[in-house]
Amino acid sequence: MSMSERREPYTIAWDAESECIIYIDQTLLPGRYELMRCTTVDDLARAIRRLEIRGAPALGIAGAMGMALAAVRSTEGDLGRFLDDLRRAGDFLKSTRPTAVNLSWGIDRVLAKVSMARTVAEAKALAVAEANAVAEEDELTCRRLGGFGKDLFPDDCTVLTHCNAGALACRCWGTALGVIRSAVAAGKNVRVFACETRPLNQGSRLTCWELARDGIDVTLIPDSSAAYLMRKGKIDLVIVGADRITKDAVFNKIGTYMHAVAAHHHKIPFYVAAPVSTFDLARVESEITVEERDRAELAYCGDRQLVPDDVRVLNYAFDATPLDLVDAIITEIGVLRPPYAKSFQFIETTRS
Ligand code: MRU
Repeated sequence: MSMSERREPYTIAWDAESECIIYIDQTLLPGRYELMRCTTVDDLARAIRRLEIRGAPALGIAGAMGMALAAVRSTEGDLGRFLDDLRRAGDFLKSTRPTAVNLSWGIDRVLAKVSMARTVAEAKALAVAEANAVAEEDELTCRRLGGFGKDLFPDDCTVLTHCNAGALACRCWGTALGVIRSAVAAGKNVRVFACETRPLNQGSRLTCWELARDGIDVTLIPDSSAAYLMRKGKIDLVIVGADRITKDAVFNKIGTYMHAVAAHHHKIPFYVAAPVSTFDLARVESEITVEERDRAELAYCGDRQLVPDDVRVLNYAFDATPLDLVDAIITEIGVLRPPYAKSFQFIETTRS
């Protein structure tokens, strides 16, 4: 069965029968593939913080479904108080991961919808319907984006990717890996270098797992070998996802910026694949909070301590790549090229 025909559980989905979220626990991969359930907003917040659910578009769906969870679990009968409770739940979920804008986007989209309701029952139904719409649209978006992006790939090429911008980071298919899947489905001969993506190894654990399952040629490399491989002429282009795109920069997994700098130096195209929901064009880089994560992620490998107790650890989860290092941004409405100001204006108008 081809990869586009295979139907398997989505990364994240709403279970209508038990009114809860079902998701693939990404912390267990590649060793174990397990579906888990979130029945409360607290469960969901924990799953997001632990990166059981991760990746910008999947976080957008999680945020929207978190509002559906808050709605269906509420016992509040007064519409005004019900909506206040939902807003509080939204603020709480937004605080779990501050950099990926899709999380807030998904939450705000459901909040805007339910605010039109005239009764609590109607608000609950609207919240569930909107959350499902966010999830369904994500699949279409990724496939459209992949269709535009595949044309940027030569017929035979080796691409480098960082972190996991794949099916696991979305409902399915993926953004950067969606472009790779679309290129392969179009008959192109694509080989992938997946950076391991220290310290949580989304590249080795998730990207390699996904691509290998689809029979796509993937080789794992240490993050630090990317520039050397570029110098040796082994990489034709770089493609990554994004957690937020501001007026001046692309936020993505820590390490992305160094690949962009190296690609620029070696005159290799550096592409970003992201849905319009990842754009935050009212802001600039300096206004964005970059998530800092626990020292234990760097200080330990499993149970083994890697750094003395008294040494400070700085563990940024993301970095920002200035737009002048980005050769194209691939979206579901087309491929944006520099200078970006004009296409950003167009995106602003399509969103308002
Ligand atoms: O910390 P993570 O694993 O949530 O970081 C994910 C990334 O940085 C992805 O590259 C990004 O969300 C794009 S996903 C399509």
